[in-house]
Amino acid sequence: MSSTNSGMSGPQWFSTSERLLGARSTITAVSAAHDLLAKNREWAARTERENPGFFTNLVHQQRPRYLWIGCSDSRVPANQIVGLRPGEVFVHRNVANLVVHSDLNAVSVLDFAVNALEVEEIIVCGHYGCGGIEAALAPESGRTYDHWIRHVRDIAKFYREDIDSQPSRAAKERRLCELNVVVQCVHVRESPVLRTPAGRKVKVHGWIYDLADGLLRDLGALVDSTRPIAPSCMD
Ligand code: CO
Repeated sequence: MSSTNSGMSGPQWFSTSERLLGARSTITAVSAAHDLLAKNREWAARTERENPGFFTNLVHQQRPRYLWIGCSDSRVPANQIVGLRPGEVFVHRNVANLVVHSDLNAVSVLDFAVNALEVEEIIVCGHYGCGGIEAALAPESGRTYDHWIRHVRDIAKFYREDIDSQPSRAAKERRLCELNVVVQCVHVRESPVLRTPAGRKVKVHGWIYDLADGLLRDLGALVDSTRPIAPSCMD
């Protein structure tokens, strides 16, 4: 559908996106995006006003100290909850904060963070109330994401005794959120990237975020070259 026969007018890209998305999608996208673009202009102006030269400096250098591996959940934004500004943390997020050995996205992020950016610390951050974790304790949905959640189901199976010993459904879900973080820390530590001389210097932390109070809790999964991680670290 073109801009002409839909009765709309505007820049050429509007009609192009209309053809790709359909008129209804285009109208929605334009109205929603206007708000975000306006917010962005306000933010950029405020940031530059408070920190003159902020963006110019960022253009020339990216040297974050941390790699954050967290959940895609919109309530757990990496920079905001630890008070870091742009340029201070390299971020990888996916559903249920997984580090899967065959996930080229995750392992490429690890490689780039450790060997190119030379981050010093990696934070694997889960959160209570994680939909991905809750789904792993529920029957399969038949949806595509079942394939991804399967990784968490495997963890639940491995730690079945621990999870079954929890007194309630909510407690079981919380426990699996914690166990999942620890297992993902193991995956990070066992990654070939982390077993290089540069990688062995990197510290790995397992944290969990509580949506209810906005606080992070260290699961005791701090790992360095001399202290291997184990589920017992959490107790
Ligand atoms: Co989540």
